[in-house]
Amino acid sequence: MSQGATSKVVLVAFGGPSSSGKTTVATTLTSLLPHVTLVQLDDFYLTDSEIPIDATTGYQNWDCPQALDFDKFTSYLKALKNGTGESPVESVQSKDVDLSLSSSELETIESVIASQNDKFQGKHIVFVDGFMLFHDPEVIKLFDIKLFFHASFETLKKRRESRKGYTTVEGFWVDPPDYFEKIVWPAFVDSHKYLFKDEDMEGNLKPSSTSAEYKINDIANEESSTLFSLVNKSLDAIIEDL
Ligand SMILES: Nc1ncnc2c1ncn2[C@@H]1O[C@H](COP(=O)(O)OP(=O)(O)OP(=O)(O)O)[C@@H](O)[C@H]1O
Ligand SMILES: [Mg+2]
Repeated sequence: MSQGATSKVVLVAFGGPSSSGKTTVATTLTSLLPHVTLVQLDDFYLTDSEIPIDATTGYQNWDCPQALDFDKFTSYLKALKNGTGESPVESVQSKDVDLSLSSSELETIESVIASQNDKFQGKHIVFVDGFMLFHDPEVIKLFDIKLFFHASFETLKKRRESRKGYTTVEGFWVDPPDYFEKIVWPAFVDSHKYLFKDEDMEGNLKPSSTSAEYKINDIANEESSTLFSLVNKSLDAIIEDL
């Protein structure tokens, strides 16, 4: 790894459903913080022909845990953590981010980072960006710091449907018109409802999710949320837990 074997590796999860803002915030913070590597869970997808088929719609289900090679992913994270891991391969996913900070917002964030410089010393921070990081307590436990991005059904649907598609292992995936409500949202609900108060996926995480048991930071990213507020909230949580 680039920071040398003596650096302490800190794994930070940027989890939450599709279009909740994970890549936007993780990419923005990666460009501002020292010693950060960004890993994408999307690089651990199975090959296109191995993606499970949803029995009701006949669609490929890219949004369930079974579409990913979790053995490979967890071994990879464990190796990173104990200092024997390789730097990640260059992700196939686009690095373009639509939202940006103004120059005064940038200055504010940079001054917070500079004032906390000692916290970053001797650490190699690995951001892990993925839609399936909190579905399994065994996976949650791998992370030192956990950020959960989420939003309402309507907000996520609108954002997802305005996207062009996703690069896959072998090609490019474009959602059929009803893919969000038939596949994306139900897969998110099934795998994450245990973390929400009254299983209400439009509400907030329940106390046992945010307290010592999992210590997940709840980051709601609704229509009115700005990139500045999301970056600040994420940075505060990271600094607090470093
Ligand atoms: N607060 C916001 N205001 C406006 N647009 C937003 C906001 N948050 C995210 N977006 C937009 O929503 C889209 C999805 O965001 P992003 O790519 O960061 O999501 P993601 O969580 O990485 O999703 P996926 O898991 O599908 O990769 C992007 O076009 C982004 O610009
Ligand atoms: Mg993303």
